[in-house]
Amino acid sequence: MKSRFAAIIQARYSDEQFAKEYYSRSKSGLKPYETDLVEKYLKNCKDVLVVGCGCGRETVPLVLKGFNITAIDISKEMVKQTKRLCRELKAKANVYEMDAANLNFKDNSFDAALLFNCLIDQVPSHENRKKVCNELWRVLKPNGVCIAISNNALYPGKRLCYWLEHIKEIPSFIAHWRRRDFFDRVYEDGTKVYVHLSTPFYLKRLFKKRFSILALTSTENISCPRKGITRYLAPIIAVVSLKEEA
Ligand SMILES: C[S@@+](CC[C@H](N)C(=O)[O-])C[C@H]1O[C@@H](n2cnc3c(N)ncnc32)[C@H](O)[C@@H]1O
Repeated sequence: MKSRFAAIIQARYSDEQFAKEYYSRSKSGLKPYETDLVEKYLKNCKDVLVVGCGCGRETVPLVLKGFNITAIDISKEMVKQTKRLCRELKAKANVYEMDAANLNFKDNSFDAALLFNCLIDQVPSHENRKKVCNELWRVLKPNGVCIAISNNALYPGKRLCYWLEHIKEIPSFIAHWRRRDFFDRVYEDGTKVYVHLSTPFYLKRLFKKRFSILALTSTENISCPRKGITRYLAPIIAVVSLKEEA
C-alpha cells in the first residue's frame, strides 16, 4: 500500500518510543464490548485472523480463550511486540508482518477475521479499503465471520471538533455525500496520526459488496445496543458480516 498516509501510519507504528508505551497499554486485554462480540459471533469459530494486531492486546486473550490465532500487522515493530507479549504471557500464536490489503494466506483459511480498534480507519483511500474487504472475503471460509469496529463520523460528541475543523468542507460533503475519502485527517499526538472516519452507511456499503451484513451495532454496550436511529450516532460502531456459502 503506497500513499502519503500509508507512510505516516508506518512511521507511527514503527516508532520505538511509541511501541514501548503501546506495549504496556496492550496488557489491558479485550474491551468489554469486544468480549461481547466474540462471545456472540465467534461461537463456532476456531481459526481466527487478527488484523492489525498492534502489540498483541487482542491476540493474547483470544489465544487464552482457546482460539487458533494468526495475527498480522503492517509494522515490523508491532509484530515484534506482539511476539514479545505472547512469550511473556505464554500464549502461542502465528504472528506475521503483512498488509491487510495483500494477505499471504490461502483462500478459505479462517473461520473469522477481527478488525478491532478501528483498523479500517487506518487504511487510506476507498480503493485500499475495498482491497482489504476483498482479501478478507477470500481468506475466510464459507460462513466465516468478519467483525470491523470503527470510529463513527456521525457521533456528535467528541467528533464535533472534527466536523468544526472541516467546516469549510461540509457543503461539499452534503453535495457529494458519497465521496468516501472525505474527512481523512492527520494530527499530532507525539507522532503524526492518520485516521479516516467512516459513517455507518459507508461501512455497511463497503462490506455489503462481498459479505452479507449480520449486524450494525454500537459498541459501548453490545448486550444492550442502541436501537433505531440512535445507533447511527454512537461513538463507535461495529459491522458484523458473513461470507455466505457460494
Ligand atoms: C490502532 S492500532 C490497533 C492495534 C491493536 N489492534 C490494539 O487494539 O491494540 C492499529 C494497528 O493496525 C496496524 N495497521 C495499519 N494499517 C494496516 C494494514 N494495512 N495492514 C495491517 N496492519 C495495519 C498498525 O500498524 C497498528 O498496529
